[in-house]
Amino acid sequence: MLYYNGYGLKGLRKGCGGQTGGMDDEDNQVSSEIFEEYNYIDSTKQAHKLNYVVSKFNFILPEYGVTVDADGDLDVRRRNAEPPKSSIEIEHMKSTALDMVGLQLWRGALLLADWLIDNHKVIPKNSLVLELGSGVGLTSIVASTFFPVLCTDINRGDILGLIERNVKRNKNICRHRVEVLELDFMSSDIPDEIVRHLPNVSLIIAADTVYDDSITRAFMKTIQKLLSMSRRMSVYIALEKRYVFTLSDCDTAAPCYEFYLECLANMKNVKYEEVPLNFPKYFEYDRVKELVLWKLTSVVK
Ligand SMILES: C[S@@+](CC[C@H](N)C(=O)[O-])C[C@H]1O[C@@H](n2cnc3c(N)ncnc32)[C@H](O)[C@@H]1O
Repeated sequence: MLYYNGYGLKGLRKGCGGQTGGMDDEDNQVSSEIFEEYNYIDSTKQAHKLNYVVSKFNFILPEYGVTVDADGDLDVRRRNAEPPKSSIEIEHMKSTALDMVGLQLWRGALLLADWLIDNHKVIPKNSLVLELGSGVGLTSIVASTFFPVLCTDINRGDILGLIERNVKRNKNICRHRVEVLELDFMSSDIPDEIVRHLPNVSLIIAADTVYDDSITRAFMKTIQKLLSMSRRMSVYIALEKRYVFTLSDCDTAAPCYEFYLECLANMKNVKYEEVPLNFPKYFEYDRVKELVLWKLTSVVK
């Protein structure tokens, strides 16, 4: 049977087990593709919960000074010298039901982390960063090396607890405060504790939050609301276009991404542009051609 969801056929894997929220249906398990490409899992590290693993994501320190080749790979300037690296340890699941994908790490998070490392100097000092749909928290942890961060997601199962544990695990890297808060796109209001901080937020980030049309619609409404509440914010959204074979088109299409583009076109008083991916890859992952980064800002009247 042709099974369709936002992750496409490639993202579907039969269950590796799990405990939380609807994880008993083994046929509906999804796994992030990144673990097929690199072996990030560090079996010497202990996860806090059963059925979780710990992965290590190495990245090249930005101070080293790097250039990038046509594929986004780093050209290390000092030949015969290994660039100094740091790493982030992330506890996560290897496979989850679709409503718990936040317990895994997705490729958009690494793209956005690369962008942050490369562009943090052009973001105003003393900025506060707000991340939406943060998942395991890697991008917020990277952001916190430069800025204080409000790291948000839905309060479902272990998602917020997992972020807290990952922030604690990387306290040597988090140079600024990371506050973990609930922000549910489906809710009609932005929580007060976030609204209170908005005058100091100049950057909103989100990775891989486009995979289900009802979530995408609510996500874009949330962004519209946030942009209308404070006009000095820029929003960066990293996405992976997921192609699937559809019987209606008899061809491959990226319906979730097309729906996102429709929502984008319907936004009011918002300017949007695709950001070229010509910045270096500091993390190890495949920067596949399906990855895209968008910048949204308010049109000031
Ligand atoms: C594919 S994961 C991406 C996670 C992380 N940003 C990354 O790239 O690894 C999608 C994220 O959107 C979050 N999400 C789903 N529905 C949401 C909602 N209604 N409100 C807020 N976040 C939601 C999920 O919990 C999850 O963290």
